[in-house]
Amino acid sequence: MPEDTKKTFPKDFLWGASTSAHQVEGGNHNDWTVWERAYAAELAKSAASRLSHIPLWPEIKTRAQDPDNYISGRGVEHYKRFEEDFDIAKNLNFNAFRFGIEWSRIEPEEGQWDQEALDHYRRYIEQLKKRGLEPVVNLWHYSLPVWFAKKGGFKHRKNLRYFDRYVGLIAKEYGHLLTHVITINEPNVYATFGYLTRERLTVQWPPQEKNAVSFGRVYWNLTQAHRRAYKILKAAHPKLQVGIADQLANIQAKRPHNQLDELTTKSMRYFWNWWFLQRIRKEQDFVGFNYYFTDYYTKLGQLQNPKLPLNDLGWYMEPEGLYPLLLRVWARYKRPIIVAENGVADAHDQYRRWWIEETIVAMERAISEGVDVRGYFHWSLLDNFEWAYGWWPKFGLVAVDRENGMKRTVRASAKWFGEKIGKIS
Ligand code: BGC
Repeated sequence: MPEDTKKTFPKDFLWGASTSAHQVEGGNHNDWTVWERAYAAELAKSAASRLSHIPLWPEIKTRAQDPDNYISGRGVEHYKRFEEDFDIAKNLNFNAFRFGIEWSRIEPEEGQWDQEALDHYRRYIEQLKKRGLEPVVNLWHYSLPVWFAKKGGFKHRKNLRYFDRYVGLIAKEYGHLLTHVITINEPNVYATFGYLTRERLTVQWPPQEKNAVSFGRVYWNLTQAHRRAYKILKAAHPKLQVGIADQLANIQAKRPHNQLDELTTKSMRYFWNWWFLQRIRKEQDFVGFNYYFTDYYTKLGQLQNPKLPLNDLGWYMEPEGLYPLLLRVWARYKRPIIVAENGVADAHDQYRRWWIEETIVAMERAISEGVDVRGYFHWSLLDNFEWAYGWWPKFGLVAVDRENGMKRTVRASAKWFGEKIGKIS
């Protein structure tokens, strides 16, 4: 790392990792746990047809064909072991931590608040702060209380009042302890996988509606859910910094200067990256986004990425694509930026260090050109439940052995990252 890197990142830059409640806590009861039980057998049965093309298939096939892989179950017991996990984060020189509050724990039945859960997240936030880890809380990350899902979730505008009420409670309970709040994680991914996608089960999530009208309603209602949450949070605590974590891709034309490819690229950028952000542009103190993908488009919306390098999920990896994306986000919104998630599924830890190093360079370049990047949260601190793929993808800086007492082992790339942050900050 060049000497100057130290000067590039602001002193109060947020360095951390990100988690979401349902993926790590264990013992949840929400629309996802219901869906997992209903579809585990089918997901296991169809694993070969969905996944045998990925490089890691020979290694993961036993796991991917076992229904148990698709059950979040005990998670990685983060709900119980959070203090141990915070100690690990602290030892990696982090000064911040992004986590989710599980709505279904706070309000397991309509209108009934669970005091144990409320106390839990208070302790959770206090323990982060005690260690000098700035809590960056995310209010909703895909999973819904079962009662809310039964009412149609975000499909009906009238249901937004339930989300408002939950947000109001969080503001009242924890607002004074926080500086940054993310309202919603990846509305574009949620609306697409839950309501639009038709082809493979891996990218169909609850409630699997496959209906373009429902998709449109959910996507629109989520813009309203965010705008209302923003107002509620700011009214309660004007100093809170509020934003979302959208999923943005570095979308590029396969054949630069080819008119059709350029047109496709522009439309894809608009629909995937900007449509949502545009609608909430006045209600965000920072632009939060998750970066995983550089995608090359050609002809009429055809995705044509280079064949290598691929991560364990078969996703094409181009970490440096964060740089042009940061420039573009900055040019459009001129708001502070937080990279709210970024990482790789990499069971053998062969790419993660390279990925992080390239990512730091990408941020460094953007900052040196005047882009106001305020924080970076690696996905994820721990190996976790990767939604419809289940347990085999390994995104953690820290490996978790679920067969052996949930033992945590810090991966080599994480040690390297921790030392790097120590030198930079
Ligand atoms: C989501 C995470 C997920 C990660 C890796 C993001 O889209 O917010 O929940 O685990 O990507 O797929």
